[in-house]
Order: sequence, then C-alpha cells, then structure tokens
Amino acid sequence: MQIRLEVQSIEQVEADAIVAPVFDKNSPGGGLTSEIAQAANDLAGGWIEELYRSGEFSGELFETAMLYRPPGLKARRLVVVGAGRSDRFTPAVLRNVAGAALRFLKPKAVASIGFLLDAGAGIAERAGAAVEGAIVGDFEPDQMKTDKKDSKSVESFAVMVPGGDAGLEDTLDRARIVAESQNFARALANEPANRLTPSALAARAHEMAAQFGLECEVLDKERMAQLGMGALLGVAQGSAEPPVLIILRYRPLEETGNTHLGLVGKGVTFDSGGISIKPSEDMDKMKFDMCGGAAVIGAMRAIAQLRPPIPVTALIPAVENMPGSRAQRPGDIVTTLSGKTVEVLNTDAEGRLILADALTYARSLGCTHLVDAATLTGAIVVALGHVHTGVFASDDALLGRVMAAARRKGEKMWLMPLDDEYKELLKSPFADLPNVGPRWGGAITAAMFLKEFTDSVPWVHLDIAGTAWLDDAKPFLAKGPSGVGVRTLTELAVCWAGQG
Ligand code: BES
Ligand code: MN
Ligand code: ZN
Repeated sequence: MQIRLEVQSIEQVEADAIVAPVFDKNSPGGGLTSEIAQAANDLAGGWIEELYRSGEFSGELFETAMLYRPPGLKARRLVVVGAGRSDRFTPAVLRNVAGAALRFLKPKAVASIGFLLDAGAGIAERAGAAVEGAIVGDFEPDQMKTDKKDSKSVESFAVMVPGGDAGLEDTLDRARIVAESQNFARALANEPANRLTPSALAARAHEMAAQFGLECEVLDKERMAQLGMGALLGVAQGSAEPPVLIILRYRPLEETGNTHLGLVGKGVTFDSGGISIKPSEDMDKMKFDMCGGAAVIGAMRAIAQLRPPIPVTALIPAVENMPGSRAQRPGDIVTTLSGKTVEVLNTDAEGRLILADALTYARSLGCTHLVDAATLTGAIVVALGHVHTGVFASDDALLGRVMAAARRKGEKMWLMPLDDEYKELLKSPFADLPNVGPRWGGAITAAMFLKEFTDSVPWVHLDIAGTAWLDDAKPFLAKGPSGVGVRTLTELAVCWAGQG
C-alpha cells in the first residue's frame, strides 16, 4: 500500500473514498467539532449532521456510515468513522480509527482512500498514528493460502491535511517504516513451526539484515557449547532442529553518550512443553512462542532505517521445545552461561532458561540497558487478560522510558511487582535456582528468575503472552499475531537521546 500526503482540497480529490473521523454525539460541543469534517459535511449538503440527527449514527468508536457519490465531492464515497468522545481522543485512538476505516473499506474493493485530519497542534503525531493504523490494519494472516481470489487490496492511503505541512512527508515515511516492520514481525510470527524452524528464523533475520544494512551473526550449537550456554542447550536437546542464537547489530555513524541498548526476544519456534508436555488442546497455538523474537527482529528492521544515535544489539535465542529421546528431564541440573546452576523442575518453563543465557551474553557484549520481550507465562494472561502487556523492571529510569514509549505508540502496558519477597519462592535444595516457583504469582517468579541473570544492568521485561496473539479480530486488526512490542521497542531506541 502506497502512503501519500494529499494537499489538494477535499472537493478536488478523486479517491474511491474520503474518510472523516467524527466524534461521539455526547462529546463537549457535539460530534462534529473537527474543522475538516465540518467542511466535508458542508460540501455534502449537511449529510453528516443529518446522520447524527436521524439517530442512525452516534459517532461511537469504530461506528461507520457511508454516502455514495457525495454531492460537492469528486470522490466516489464519503465515509464517517466514529472516533469516540472528543475529550478522550488521543493519537492512540486515532491509530485504531484509521485501521478500522481501512478494514471497513477493504472488502468493498476500495483502492484509494483519503483520510481527513485537522491541521494544527500535534498534527505530526496524529498523521503518523493514522498511517500506522492503516498499514497494520491492512495486514492479513493469509500468506499460506493459495486461493486469494476473494482478497482485496487497498492501493493507496493518503493523509489529507488542509494546507499540507512541510515536515509531514518525513513523518509519514517514518510511520510507514515502523508499521511495515510491525507487519514484518507478524508475518514471521504467523508462520507455523514446520516452516519457521530456528534455522529458518535465523535465515530470515540474516536476509532482513542484509537488506537494511545490519550486521548479523548466528551462533550455532557448537559455539554455544564452547561458551557454556547450558540452559539454552538443555532446552534445545529434545528436538532434531538445532538451536541458534541470532545477533543483530545496529551501529550509528556517530554515537552520542555511552548507552548501548540490548533487545532480547524469546524465540521458541514451537513449545510442546517438552517432557512436561502440554495438553493437546490449543497446543497448536504454541507456534506463537517466538513472538518476542519476532518483535525484536521487527524493531531492528525499523531501527536500521530510522537510524537513532545509539547502538542497539538484538539477541534472539531460537529453539524448539520438544520431548525427543534426548530431551532434558525434570530434575536435570544445567549450568548457565553465568555460571549459576538451575534445577529444571518443569521443562515447560523453557523461555526463562534460554533468556537467562541470552541476557548473560548481552551483558558480555557490553549492553548497558536491557529490554526483553517474551511470551513467557500463562500466568500473565490470568493476571492481565489480553489487554495489557505485563511489565517488570529493575530500574525506574529505564521503566519510565519504556512506559512513555509504549504510551506514545498506543501499546498498553501494566507495571507488575518484583519485590525481593518473591525471590524467596525460587529455592532449590540441589542447585542455585529452580526454574519454577510455586503456583501463585507465576508471571512474577518467572520475571524474578530472569532478573537473576541481569546482574546490575538496568533491565525491563515485557511478558507479551496475553497480547502477542488475537484469537478474534478487532475492528482495526486481523486475528492472529499482533506484532506487539515492535512500536514500543523502536520508539524506545529512536527517542533515547531526546527523552529522560
Ligand atoms: N510459552 C509458555 C507461556 C504461555 C502459556 C503462553 C500459555 C500463552 C499461553 C511458557 O513457555 C510456559 O509454558 N510457561 C508455563 C510455565 C509453568 C510451567 C511454570 C506456564 O505458563 O504454564
Ligand atoms: Mn513452555
Ligand atoms: Zn514457551
């Protein structure tokens, strides 16, 4: 889909559809307070006002109405999309409104869309959000279908701002890069485990790195053994598919300060549970267990193009957790790269084992700040459902940066506790640590386990188990992989110098 800035006046634009976001009728001042929506209403003979008055349309979030051959406009259709109450309107809401508009129009074979935005305060942020919403709204998880004769595609999405704006083209382009990278992560996450093995994931990362000028290094099993990554290797040993540790490096031309950001993503291409095998119901969903890794690779794709002034290194430990005859057994004790020993009480708590070695390795590469993303626990889904990503932090300043980035980019995150009391729950009589604690507080003890491998390096952990996959479509997003984390991790790196 092509992204454009449209500078022609509303009546001149020859789009298949012009979309006006409008507010809930109970908003302060009513629903039609946006200038550009008022202009569209006037040109179309008061159509929007009449819609509100009829009671047919109230402007609530994602509600739509469409007028064919609107008088006064060259466009074929005029569409209104509810943007909710104007006093609750944010760029995050607008992102989803743009996505909902696109997903409403796409099945109607609409090829070109003009999306109306008022000029003025915050236009860069609003225009960027609209573009992101449209591009992520356009993604379908149908790459593996051979019969796509019913699928339609939108060819162009134009942001229409009266008078245009000098800096806006660049803003739209940056938004496009972020959203396309989020879709790149979703396409990876959508591939099933027979196609996307750890080696295949490494090949994809390598190809992307070559395209965008990142350095890519892939550590194989022998190298991991040499280094002493016993926890990662222990998880991998039950599968015929060899593990890899994918490392992507971004270096700015000129570095400012001495920050070196490390992004770590869980890349379990399939999680059967291993010998502590999962129930067969819904086990197919465990192809999603590399969504953290995909998010990190997607963020690096964007970072490579947006070129922030700090170095960023991504590490994705990729394995398949299987119950083969060589699989690790409950009760096995592994020696991690850090030197700490771990008693593997449950082979299904594999994410923290591979991340332990990746976090330790990230520190040895000189990362000064660490952020990981992982579909780590079912317990975070119990705690937060499918709305918020669970956030755990060892450092308030880094936490502040991550939370601010997440808010700006419309990814909902909720802070979880990491008090020392939880550490008491991780005691093994035979090794330095067990890989699981008691039943309650499972997302927290998992995070507490990871913290043991971050030492004193500021670290934030994102448990995306509840947010990485949509079981049902939303008006603005297809069902399947959400690509959560890409926007926040990219924003974190890109805004590092300017913030906090
Ligand atoms: N990948 C899973 C986490 C998961 C489970 C995500 C269910 C989404 C839905 C992880 O590797 C896992 O199996 N965690 C276990 C940990 C337990 C054995 C302590 C879990 O959450 O059940
Ligand atoms: Mn597991
Ligand atoms: Zn897992």
